[in-house]
Amino acid sequence: MRLIIISGANGALGIAYLNYFKNKTDIKCAAIVRSEFRANIPNISVINADLLNAKKIKAEIENIDLSGISDVIFIHPVGKFKFEKTGKPEIDENNDGIDDEIYESNVETFLNVVNPLIVKLGKEAKNNNFISLAICAFGSISDRYNIRFWHSYTKAKNKLKNFIWYITQKDSYRGLIRGVFVNVSTTDTGNENKLRPFADKKYWLSCKEIVEQSAPLLLETSVQWKEIDIYKPVPDFNPDYYTNIGKILKKWNKEMGKK
Ligand SMILES: NC(=O)c1ccc[n+]([C@@H]2O[C@H](COP(=O)([O-])OP(=O)(O)OC[C@H]3O[C@@H](n4cnc5c(N)ncnc54)[C@H](OP(=O)(O)O)[C@@H]3O)[C@@H](O)[C@H]2O)c1
Repeated sequence: MRLIIISGANGALGIAYLNYFKNKTDIKCAAIVRSEFRANIPNISVINADLLNAKKIKAEIENIDLSGISDVIFIHPVGKFKFEKTGKPEIDENNDGIDDEIYESNVETFLNVVNPLIVKLGKEAKNNNFISLAICAFGSISDRYNIRFWHSYTKAKNKLKNFIWYITQKDSYRGLIRGVFVNVSTTDTGNENKLRPFADKKYWLSCKEIVEQSAPLLLETSVQWKEIDIYKPVPDFNPDYYTNIGKILKKWNKEMGKK
């Protein structure tokens, strides 16, 4: 039996993963939400916690019943975005060049789940119960272009990706921890709609497309580490767009309804 744990399970992407896995045999699902679980999906264990509350999350992870589970898959479709018009973080008390809210939302929320999960599985391993763990998080296709209007987001996503890559490469975890990092193009989530209400959504990805292209990889225990890109091809798209600051600013201002 496998256990899928999905954080941000009230978000469009979290719900799409739950819908994909819900009827699969040999799979149990757990949803982490910070408010009432809104999706009408039966047989899901609901963990109610704010992902920034490390103590609470740790206690909840310790409480998870792993009897009969051979593989845990943690999917983390959480992570705030900010458009940094000035090219600088809005809040940066520790001066690391990453907006503190962006770091918390993208990296801390993830570590608050993954660290106690690894400890828990380590304890099981000491009792000769070897349970494997797959970890999945998300970035943006644009992150490789280091765009000045979302440096904080890109830096936070790179930290997340490097963390996942690093633990999958550790000799002591070989064969036990695997990772998938999914870079996506603009996706039709509630938050993206709020941020860019005036955008043309014709080429936005649906959450279902992301799930269908990534979930099989997560179930594949032979994949130790993989980074994949999922995007909707835009006809005549020229990647030079990503280096044209003026064009990006104009497009985003229009989409966000700002001047
Ligand atoms: N949408 C895009 O175009 C796009 C593009 C590239 C990458 N991504 C990535 O795709 C993922 C999903 O995107 P999204 O826009 O839906 O992300 P999001 O804004 O972080 O929201 C996803 C879910 O996470 C939950 N959440 C956020 N902070 C939480 C916390 N502290 N504790 C508990 N739950 C928390 C939210 O809960 P509430 O429902 O309670 O608010 C929401 O249901 C993110 O990793 C994002 O960075 C998205």
